[in-house]
Amino acid sequence: MGTTGTPPGVGSSVVTPTTDSPSAPAAPVGLSSQAEVSAEIAAQARARTAATPQPRLDYPAYRSSLLRHPTKAPVPVDPEGVELWAPAFGERDLDPAEADLTASATGGEPIGERMVVTGRVTDGEGRPVRRQLVEVWQANAAGRYAHGRDQHPAPLDPHFTGSGRALTDDDGRYAFTTIKPGPYPWRNHDNAWRPAHIHFSLFGHDFTQRLITQMYFPGDPLFDLDPILQSVTDPAARARLVATYDHDVTSPEWSTGYRWDIVLTGPRRTVTEDPDA
Ligand SMILES: [Fe+2]
Repeated sequence: MGTTGTPPGVGSSVVTPTTDSPSAPAAPVGLSSQAEVSAEIAAQARARTAATPQPRLDYPAYRSSLLRHPTKAPVPVDPEGVELWAPAFGERDLDPAEADLTASATGGEPIGERMVVTGRVTDGEGRPVRRQLVEVWQANAAGRYAHGRDQHPAPLDPHFTGSGRALTDDDGRYAFTTIKPGPYPWRNHDNAWRPAHIHFSLFGHDFTQRLITQMYFPGDPLFDLDPILQSVTDPAARARLVATYDHDVTSPEWSTGYRWDIVLTGPRRTVTEDPDA
């Protein structure tokens, strides 16, 4: 998936280059067609073996991954040394209101389908990961990021920044109130559109542990066409990136609800991206 996006205004300043938004480099002449990209996706699916990394970091159908995937082994670093200059936070740095992306500083309400996204962060044995910093960033209901480099000609929402953060509770649970994001075009190939998604970052215990991934919505017709999602070539691993509609999370007269758990280790691990990709 190798795509991290930039959380606009997220307080911990954990940001990396936006790569899957319309802010990606200008479209070169002679873009591939969707049919060509879909054929490449199918070829990679056929070539998958049990040893294929998930996601494929050098995935031909995801054009920019070929040049910016890691080509060298990670450099071991001393976590304590890194923390002398890396972002840091404490519980007192977070306001619970930051988990409500619909609570705009403008006082107005964003346009779109209000929803709650909640789930647990656990290890492979189901044990909760407590006090974990979870950050999210997303496009608005029209499919546009509140980011200066996003020039997609869809309306900005003055009441929606699209970023939020929260700490998991004693049960490893997080919850965000937000607006369902829209799909948006990007310039990987001709007529390329991303399925609706929310970017998630988990901070870990120090900056060297940060994990990034994306959550998708069930039944999106763009799944099969999207080389970022399809760079997770294992169908079971892809399925774990898709939230579940949960009527028990839905509130009457207020919001729909989705559940999405994040598993950090083990065979049911949630696929994450290379944060430096
Ligand atoms: Fe995105």
